[in-house]
Parts: sequence; C-alpha cells; structure tokens
Amino acid sequence: MTYPEAIIRRISNRKYVSRPLREEEISELNKLIEQNNRAGGLRLRLVTECPEVFSGLKGYGMFSGVRNLILIAGPESDPDVEEKCGYYGEKVVLGATTMGFGTCWVGGTYDKERCQALLQSGEKLCCVVTVGPVADQPSAKEKVIRGVMQRKSKTPAELSMGLGAAPAWFMSGIAAVQRAPSARNLQPVRFLYSNGAVTAQLTEKHNFSNVDLGIAKYHFEVGAHGGAWTWGDGGTFTKAVEEKSCGAVIWRKTENGHEYLLAQHGAAHWSFPKGHMEKGEKEADTAKREILEETGLTVELDTRFRELVIYAPRRGVIKDVVFFLATPTGGEEHPQAEEILQLGWFSYADALPLITFASDVEVLKAAENYIQSNTKQP
Ligand SMILES: Cc1cc2nc3c(=O)[nH]c(=O)nc-3n(C[C@H](O)[C@H](O)[C@H](O)COP(=O)(O)O)c2cc1C
Repeated sequence: MTYPEAIIRRISNRKYVSRPLREEEISELNKLIEQNNRAGGLRLRLVTECPEVFSGLKGYGMFSGVRNLILIAGPESDPDVEEKCGYYGEKVVLGATTMGFGTCWVGGTYDKERCQALLQSGEKLCCVVTVGPVADQPSAKEKVIRGVMQRKSKTPAELSMGLGAAPAWFMSGIAAVQRAPSARNLQPVRFLYSNGAVTAQLTEKHNFSNVDLGIAKYHFEVGAHGGAWTWGDGGTFTKAVEEKSCGAVIWRKTENGHEYLLAQHGAAHWSFPKGHMEKGEKEADTAKREILEETGLTVELDTRFRELVIYAPRRGVIKDVVFFLATPTGGEEHPQAEEILQLGWFSYADALPLITFASDVEVLKAAENYIQSNTKQP
C-alpha cells in the first residue's frame, strides 16, 4: 500500500483488537518513527502496553482495547514544534496504515500527565496517536461514534482558493486534504493557488490548529505527488521534480526454503537492486538492466507482482520506485563498484530487520506472501 492509498484507507480507529504487538511489528514501527524523528528533529516515541492511559477515567469511553500509543513530541525550543509534530506525526500515521494498523490522533481524551511523565526535560508533548491492530469491520458502537465525530469533509471550494486556474496536481492535493484528520474535524487550513505559487493558511486558531496545519500540509504534499513546504501559517509549497526507478525483489530456492538478495546501496542503506528509468525504457527493461548492472545477474521477472514505493530521496524530488519479483537465470554475482557496497542472500527472517526503510519492509512482506501463495518455487 502506498501513502496515497493509505490516505484513502485511513480513518480514526477508536477500538483495537486487544493483543500485544509482536516483536517484528514493534521494530517496524520504531524504524518508521526513527526515520521521521531524524528528518524532523522530533522525539516521537512508541510506548507499548500502556492501557492505563485510556482506561477507567472519565471521558475516555470512546476508546477501547488501546494498548499502544505514540507520543507525538518534540523540542520545546523549536518554534514550529507543533506543526512539525503534525507533519511528521501524520507521516508515521500513514506509514502505520500501510502496515495494516489502525490509528487515531488524540489531543484531549487521554491521561496527559501519565504521558508527560515519560518525556525528558525540554520536550513538549503535542498529542498522542493510538496504534494497533483493528478488526476489519467497525463495531456498531464505533459506527455511532464515527457518525458523531466525522462530520462531512469540507468541499474543495471551501478548502482552497484559485482552484479555477490551478494545475491538476493542486486539485489532487486538495482531494488529499479533504481526507486529513483534524482536531474536532474543524479542517482549519485553506490552500491558495496564485500565479504558480501555493500557500497554506489557518482560518482559525485553537489549541491544535498548528498540529492540524502540519497534517494538512503533509496530505497536500502526498496528493500533489511531492513537494516541499516552508513552515508556518502562510508557508509556501514548491512542487517536486518527479523521478522514477525500477528494480526487483530477487529470490531463489534453498534446501530449507528460499532466500532474498539484498543490496547495500552507496548511502549505506539495505534495500533491493533498483535504478533510474531511462527515456524510452519500459519498467521491466529498466529493472533487468539495473539488476544486471548492480548485481551482475540476469533474471526472469514476474511482473504480476508489482509494488510501488513513493519517497523523497532529497528535498524537492519525489521518486516512484516499482519493484517486481525476480529469480536469477545466469550471470556472475558481483556488486557494482560505484553504487553497491555489498550484496547478500538472506532468509526472510534475517532480511526483515536488515532492510533500512519501513516502506521496503512492506515490499518484502508482500513478496513473501506472494511467493507463499502464488509461485511454484523454481
Ligand atoms: C490534533 C488532533 C487531535 C484529536 N483529538 C482527538 C481526541 O481527543 N479524541 C478523539 O476521539 N479524536 C480526536 N481526533 C480525531 C478527530 O476527531 C478525527 O480526525 C476527525 O473527526 C476526522 O475523522 P477521521 O480521522 O476518521 O477522518 C483528533 C485529531 C487531530 C488531528
């Protein structure tokens, strides 16, 4: 599931299946949280097995089965801390959605003192986000709560100005903002398009309006397919340059099962072989060419398996990466000197913790499911 898909899927979940998170789920969530803490200079933190934060006390009855939460916190000294908490917190929320978890932003109805006690000095707690497994279908009680909490979204015309003259990516940005969570569903952010420039402005101020501003800006950015914001009420958006890469999850049979080929890329992160699409190339051609260049292997692709990852490799650039599934057919395995630090074959269990980015972990999980259920082992 990509982040644009997660925006469509996400709703506020207030009822959780009451089981502890598994070790690999905790490690994947922590990976996602750490990535965003680094990018935003924040102190988001996963707290597991803390049902007391939502139990027993007055006003928390809307939530049930909550066992885990993410403290959405950052340095008090940062003047934009609330907005950054909204922006990066929503990145974590959507990442958790791609992993299949339910989430809910919570600003008021939780035991704030208990959570504050978990922070270090100099840290400001903006909100918490509940996170955990949820049932496929909402319960009757949940449907009633959602009916009350989820007023109809504002229309594109209410959320923006200059729509008539705006390009398609602005409209897609606004469609994603329509689905952004906001405190009391107030949706207090307007997006203005004028002479090629986009600005975001708050229409009202309340305790959580800056958090809402960060969330809405992130949704706009995902809907517009990449870009960069300046912080603050009145902040401006620059649309990203779009790039595309293709590659594959390469696997082979072993005596006991099967294993995956991972590459440690120049930036020292572990992922799958992949590279830039050249003009006139088809996705499968790029994948085969890049795999040969990076690993020395020729492969047979299974293009029925096709997973898309969208990420920002650097500020101002958005990259779509398409991963197929592949099995080696020949060649001589060796890492490409300029781009790959090393190659290695790993079992599924060993590959999972090694992969650097949570979105790539999702690709490996999808590949494992696909191989288990669809493919005859070669
Ligand atoms: C900053 C913030 C604070 C929120 N606080 C609460 C809260 O205290 N209790 C609650 O039940 N929901 C809370 N919500 C969830 C909103 O009610 C919910 O996002 C909104 O109603 C839209 O519904 P949706 O998220 O299902 O699209 C909060 C959301 C945000 C963004």
